[in-house]
Amino acid sequence: MGFDTKDKATAQQPPYPLHNDPPRFRKISRYIGSLSLALIAASVAYYFCPGRLLAHPAVASEHTAQGQHLRGGDPVCPQADALVPGVNHDVWLTLGEALSTQGFQDHAVYAISGAVQIKGESFIDMGPVGNDSRWEVHAAMHEYLVRAFPLINKFLKREIVNTYGLLYTWGGSDPSLKPLLMLAHMDTVPVDEDTLREWTHPPWSGDFDGTYIWGRGSADDKSGMIGTMLAIEMLIGRGFFPTRTVILAFGFDEEIGGVQGAGHISPVLQQRYGPNSFAAILDEGGSFGEEYGSIFASPGVAEKGSMNVRMEITGAGGHSSVPPAHTSIGKLAAAIVKLEDSPFEAHLLRESVIYRRLLCLAQYGADMDPMLRQKIKDSMTSDQSLLELEGILFSAAPVVKTLVSTTQSVNIVQGGFAQNALPERASAIVNHRIDSLSSSAAVKARDASTLEEIARRFNLNYHPFGTANYHSAAFTGNFSLVATTLLEPSPISPTEGVGAGAYHVLSGSIVAAYNAYNWTNSGRSKEVDTIFVTPALPSGNTDTRFYWDLSSNIFRYNHDNFGSPEHPLGGGVHSVNERLHVRVFLEMVRFYFTYILNMQEYHEA
Ligand SMILES: *[C@@H]1O[C@H](CO)[C@@H](O)[C@H](O)[C@H]1NC(C)=O
Ligand SMILES: *[C@@H]1O[C@H](CO)[C@@H](O)[C@H](O)[C@H]1NC(C)=O
Ligand SMILES: *[C@@H]1O[C@H](CO)[C@@H](O)[C@H](O)[C@H]1NC(C)=O
Ligand SMILES: [Zn+2]
Repeated sequence: MGFDTKDKATAQQPPYPLHNDPPRFRKISRYIGSLSLALIAASVAYYFCPGRLLAHPAVASEHTAQGQHLRGGDPVCPQADALVPGVNHDVWLTLGEALSTQGFQDHAVYAISGAVQIKGESFIDMGPVGNDSRWEVHAAMHEYLVRAFPLINKFLKREIVNTYGLLYTWGGSDPSLKPLLMLAHMDTVPVDEDTLREWTHPPWSGDFDGTYIWGRGSADDKSGMIGTMLAIEMLIGRGFFPTRTVILAFGFDEEIGGVQGAGHISPVLQQRYGPNSFAAILDEGGSFGEEYGSIFASPGVAEKGSMNVRMEITGAGGHSSVPPAHTSIGKLAAAIVKLEDSPFEAHLLRESVIYRRLLCLAQYGADMDPMLRQKIKDSMTSDQSLLELEGILFSAAPVVKTLVSTTQSVNIVQGGFAQNALPERASAIVNHRIDSLSSSAAVKARDASTLEEIARRFNLNYHPFGTANYHSAAFTGNFSLVATTLLEPSPISPTEGVGAGAYHVLSGSIVAAYNAYNWTNSGRSKEVDTIFVTPALPSGNTDTRFYWDLSSNIFRYNHDNFGSPEHPLGGGVHSVNERLHVRVFLEMVRFYFTYILNMQEYHEA
């Protein structure tokens, strides 16, 4: 759906505020912020004593979207300059001014508060849409969005996919430009009834206490959905219409895998636009915050894969008065022990996202211990230093090991049915998270070879992943491995060299949005006036896993400012007292409209 320029003249100013009913103001308590992508940094900081403060590199100068220069020509962790919209500079400035008005703040708080009040919990056991009434709450969200965003409703094409998925198309005037896809999800994780008393404000209240908007979903991910819509509503209100088409896709079951929402929306887009047809995809994910004394933004540029493996061992049943030395359960136990005694090899590889992140932290982290900084720099050229660095990181923070390797975790075990009967079968589910640089084939091969010894030891016919690997002469039963779910690791979005243009637009937009606000009194431990951007690897998956074929430039970032004990700008967790700092929310909106405007001027290589 496209618009000609005549529509611009008729676009209205947004009706701020929409309501005469300000949210309630109450007292708050502090909480520790969101699932930070900075795990690795936080853990390492704990091990090393604080180092000397190093001088900051020069603050970036501003460039227009046409000139996507890199800062300083430094080969380690190149940084994009602040990227300020050129063609639409005036629109950008006007929207920036609107952000600081009380009228807009009231409107933004009202918009997110209303969305938080819609109790769209996702439960792991939900049946198909249409067969489980718990989905129906999302109809209320649809109605709410129509009411709260009249301009979007008027100027974007809205399609409903699989009853509750939302697909908005903001048609651009130049169909030769690949569209921009912006994702978010309207569902939340459930609130544990046992924790209700621990919430300072009730989880579905959407209360505003003057600083925070409270409630489940306020951070994850209604801030992303409502923030994106506010940015677009503002742009329409200022008479802006896109040349590059912008598409919004909002799922409703991200927290339980996204199959019903994103899983249905993606095929619609695949069919309509074809493979690799989007300039970039933006979804929830990374945030920005202080690490090693500097401010880093951490867009996720890849995701690990995952695979659940069902191990099953069968054997003859019978009465337990005349048992064999090992029952199926005993053999399965041996297999589990064998697996746990054989962890996947973990290595810090230079090609990994985590390594590139370390380089960025070493390059720009003002307070990093000089010895660690030197070790990281030496590791770029010395294999010995790389090994030493790996040793330091792994012993300082075992969690780092899990980020740079495939993991395994036996999470379900089943077997047996009577106290006096031999179990005919016993099974276990092994959950793997597949390293970003590995593959399901490598993991299957590793599991198959690791467990072959169990088949031989107990004379089991061995069927790993559909193959007939080993046949025992003295057959006692079967041993099979089956992948019940499988997600390959995602492609890694380019962040350097050719193909990294979309990443530089993202980085430059982050820097421009950050620089546009004076963060001096925001509660930081000290004044930090420069933001650096580093690629990151989120520990989980988002809805982007359904969209890999549509773009090589997929970024998981929402300009949230994760909380820390030092500065109380709240983020959000799947926990009690989820809340969103109003300033953080307004800056998310600034980031969204900055990014949308900059993407208008981006020229694909
Ligand atoms: C839908 O619900 C009915 C009744 O609750 C149940 O019998 C049926 O198996 C369900 N269908 C699916 C596809 O889950
Ligand atoms: C082992 O597998 C074979 C082939 O699938 C099957 O015929 C046999 O009954 C199984 N034996 C046991 C003890 O499970
Ligand atoms: C930012 O705010 C602080 C304190 O309010 C002020 O001292 C400083 O001059 C401001 N900086 C800029 C660049 O406006
Ligand atoms: Zn989320």
